[in-house]
Amino acid sequence: MKILITGICGFVGSQIARRIKAVRDDVQLIGLDNFLRAGSELNRRDAEQLCDTFLHADMRCGDDWDSVPEADWVIDCAALPSVLAGTEGHGSSRQLIGHNLIGTLNLLEYCRRSSAGVILISTSRVYSIRPLAALPLHESTDRYELDASQALPVGISTEGIAESFSTSPPVSLYGATKVASETMALEYGQAFGFPVRVNRCGVLAGAGQFARADQGIFSFWVHSHRAKRPLRYIGCRGTGFQVRDCLHPIDVADLVLKQIDAGSDSDKPLVTNVSGGLESSRSLCQLTRWCDRRFGPHAVAGSDEVRRFDLPWIVLDSSLARSAWHWSPRRTTEMILEEIAEFASRSPDWLEISS
Ligand SMILES: NC(=O)c1ccc[n+]([C@@H]2O[C@H](COP(=O)([O-])OP(=O)(O)OC[C@H]3O[C@@H](n4cnc5c(N)ncnc54)[C@H](O)[C@@H]3O)[C@@H](O)[C@H]2O)c1
Repeated sequence: MKILITGICGFVGSQIARRIKAVRDDVQLIGLDNFLRAGSELNRRDAEQLCDTFLHADMRCGDDWDSVPEADWVIDCAALPSVLAGTEGHGSSRQLIGHNLIGTLNLLEYCRRSSAGVILISTSRVYSIRPLAALPLHESTDRYELDASQALPVGISTEGIAESFSTSPPVSLYGATKVASETMALEYGQAFGFPVRVNRCGVLAGAGQFARADQGIFSFWVHSHRAKRPLRYIGCRGTGFQVRDCLHPIDVADLVLKQIDAGSDSDKPLVTNVSGGLESSRSLCQLTRWCDRRFGPHAVAGSDEVRRFDLPWIVLDSSLARSAWHWSPRRTTEMILEEIAEFASRSPDWLEISS
């Protein structure tokens, strides 16, 4: 079987590629990347070794697609992945749409030509911001908790945000490129008869992640804390009580392989949330305490700055992925944090290289 991985030199693409080659000997990999992301060059040699064909190619460019050999499946891991991308001070909105949406449209034309199935790595950021910002929450000692004694919007339960939750705008420019990509992929699959699966991932984290304050927050926090860099709690009144779930991309890879093996099985869901769920979730404040124990104390300043699209509680309910795909994550948040911590000790300059 031939599998094309786009964005193969990024954090998720490189982890999925390594995992597939480690557990399957019947797969030939094709990989492409345009090295947009600072640090992705560091994964190039590995990608060249793992792939039968590796291409320095830009998904926005129709000509580049003419050089991509046919594949049976595509795993789409290429994107500008920050929720702030394309907004004031965070790069060009046109480029965001080019990489995240035009790139997907070119990819879908490729799938149509080669009858390849596609798996989109999408995001929790497709979910509607206003109802998420208005969720009833209460404060425990170190985090927000959902207040289930109050009326909850459709698609929210104590397990988290389900696939039925609204994706109405606003979802951020980034979220909009991903919702639009999802819609177009599902339509292309229907119109041209190739299988499509959409995996809406929560926060992904692990060693080797390119991390900044606005993207890759678990890695950014652990690396910064270890190096005793200044850290601030932004939003949520400077408490650090905002909560995110956490998942390792190797667990995503294991799900993706199940989806590829299922082919076009129509009993399986097209769109699934993929996350570590509530048990994996941590607040920034909890993350600081973990780092304090691991590296020694380091003070974090509170800040009253309010940043666009900051949300207090994003936890994906992944029960559909667990029941439909008989999948569950193997790597706990503790394991992921320890993996990042060990990597940070070996790579003290990682944030400079990758931010
Ligand atoms: N990291 C997370 O927490 C997270 C969470 C949910 C979803 N996702 C999604 O997972 C996917 C991968 O994210 P990541 O964290 O690995 O990001 P990343 O920035 O580490 O990797 C993305 C890769 O895509 C490449 N790329 C970007 N535009 C391209 C283009 N036009 N043509 C070719 N290559 C291009 C970049 O050079 C980079 O190597 C993205 O679709 C993102 O939206 C990530």
